[in-house]
Amino acid sequence: MTPDVRPLVAGNWKMNGTRAALDQIKAIAEGVDGPLAEKVDALICPPATLLYVATALSTDSALMIGAQDCHQDQSGAHTGDLSAEMIADCFATYVIVGHSERRSDHAETDHLVRAKAEAAYAADLTAIICIGETADERKSGQTLEILKRQLAGSVPDSANAETTVIAYEPVWAIGTGLTPTVDDVEKAHAFMRAELVARFGDAAKTMRILYGGSVKPGNARELMGIANVDGALIGGASLKASDFLAIYGAYEVLTA
Ligand code: 13P
Repeated sequence: MTPDVRPLVAGNWKMNGTRAALDQIKAIAEGVDGPLAEKVDALICPPATLLYVATALSTDSALMIGAQDCHQDQSGAHTGDLSAEMIADCFATYVIVGHSERRSDHAETDHLVRAKAEAAYAADLTAIICIGETADERKSGQTLEILKRQLAGSVPDSANAETTVIAYEPVWAIGTGLTPTVDDVEKAHAFMRAELVARFGDAAKTMRILYGGSVKPGNARELMGIANVDGALIGGASLKASDFLAIYGAYEVLTA
């Protein structure tokens, strides 16, 4: 956690969820409507097909809805893509950019991720910019070097704590049940904070830095209690309302 920073618990549904899964959105929207909503933000990023209905289902709730990717252009001949404006038009308020699955499946570069984040800002969306090292990069001791390069390349010069969230997701921890040690997470997050403050000044002291990669109800409290970890980006465990809410609920103790 970071002083004066409102944590964000975010779920990334990836390519999962048909209309039948809207029940889970409803349950999450109801579940996050307690007193904790005064202290902690909750966000679900469903597939694009569910965006519009998901925002309608959560209008009266503290739950926020986001998309998983956007195109860098405002409109045009880009078959299959979504613009940031279209996402905002669905009343969504966040968009994930540069997830490692986009970087690997679609060869997205830091340069492109930066352009997508800028497109998000132009549409008044908050960008969740994902970075993280692969297993090989970690083995060869390059973790911090990779984080430095990805932060420098993917985060726009105009970023600030309101428009930007960083998500540190070690690629090898995604969907594997593996997580870095508390010490490793602490070191990585302290490093990212220092890099951001060096570039953006004191304003970056309150920029949220999430941890993602095999966050579950059983490890949430430990991971989110680490210094400079300002919430979680959750994949698999966010698909089930009860698991997502259990992770969100870890903040009952952490913020007490
Ligand atoms: P898991 O929580 O399934 O490991 O996924 C993490 C992730 O990639 C969230 O964006």
